[in-house]
Amino acid sequence: MNTFEEINVKGFADEYIDPTLDLFAEIDKLKKEKNAVILAHYYQEGDIQDIADYIGDSLGLSQQAAKTDADIIVFAGVHFMAETAKILSPDKKVLLPDLKAGCSLADSCPPHLFRKFKEQYPDHLVITYVNCTAELKALSDIVCTSSNAVQIVESLPKDQKIIFGPDRNLGAWVAKKTGRDLVLWNGACMVHEIFSREKITKLKERHPDAKILAHPECEEVILELADYIGSTTGILKYATNSPAKEFIVATESGIMHQMEKDNPDKVFIPAPPNNLCACNDCPHMKRNTLEKLYLCLKNEMPEVEVPAHIIKEAVKPIERMLEISAKLGL
Ligand code: 13P
Ligand code: SF4
Repeated sequence: MNTFEEINVKGFADEYIDPTLDLFAEIDKLKKEKNAVILAHYYQEGDIQDIADYIGDSLGLSQQAAKTDADIIVFAGVHFMAETAKILSPDKKVLLPDLKAGCSLADSCPPHLFRKFKEQYPDHLVITYVNCTAELKALSDIVCTSSNAVQIVESLPKDQKIIFGPDRNLGAWVAKKTGRDLVLWNGACMVHEIFSREKITKLKERHPDAKILAHPECEEVILELADYIGSTTGILKYATNSPAKEFIVATESGIMHQMEKDNPDKVFIPAPPNNLCACNDCPHMKRNTLEKLYLCLKNEMPEVEVPAHIIKEAVKPIERMLEISAKLGL
């Protein structure tokens, strides 16, 4: 077994695993023994989604983390998601299969710089997208996700001045949808900014009946092409409910697993990116593997910790989001 220090340096346990082991059965056994729950984001690899107790978007995952009665939460997602679970359930052990599963969007908003930015707008309310560090949440008034950002802004008085961070694309989309003038932090997600408008347009010419589905973290030039814009859960529901048979999907590739499982008769085409490797994978999300998930549950490491003084402040804007969402039936 790796030591705590070794895991902290590498981000994950690198023990040798018996290749004949049925990891699905072992994880299931450990889960029962330890009263653990596995929460997975749609961007996780297919095997992880298949073993999870709950798969969802960021809002659904936060709601699950707030209400679970498990002793251990294994968060198959990225660091800010596990932090959010810890903030909502501070007495539970929160495990992340790979401690280095970060997020380019969260990294694009260092809290010490955001604090200075915020000081320039003392009469503004701060809404932050959940894809940010716990420290940033502690500087916020309300947290939101891609599935409730529009409704949260609309729940505030029309003359309320608002700073929105860290995602400039989601912020610009929310500003357009609500007609509000938001002050935006200039952050972005490396995966959602990679799609090529030119290549998507050409693809659409070859598949004229395909619906284009996009996540609001994409740039405006991509969102302009979309038939539907929404969170991962929204995209999945739209594809399931639509009579269309073909879809061009402009978000991280992990979502395709569930889309294909739920709709075996439909065709899902990943939107082409500008990068040369031609993939829409989030390198952070994809650091987690079934093997790392098994080892983290077995060793109960790596564990995500959030300092008590940060939890005290960060829980308020998250709870505010959950309250508004519950009131709106989201
Ligand atoms: P949602 O699943 O909430 O749409 O979030 C997308 C995302 O980029 C998570 O990292
Ligand atoms: Fe962060 Fe983008 Fe990866 Fe989501 S897809 S975890 S926003 S880098």
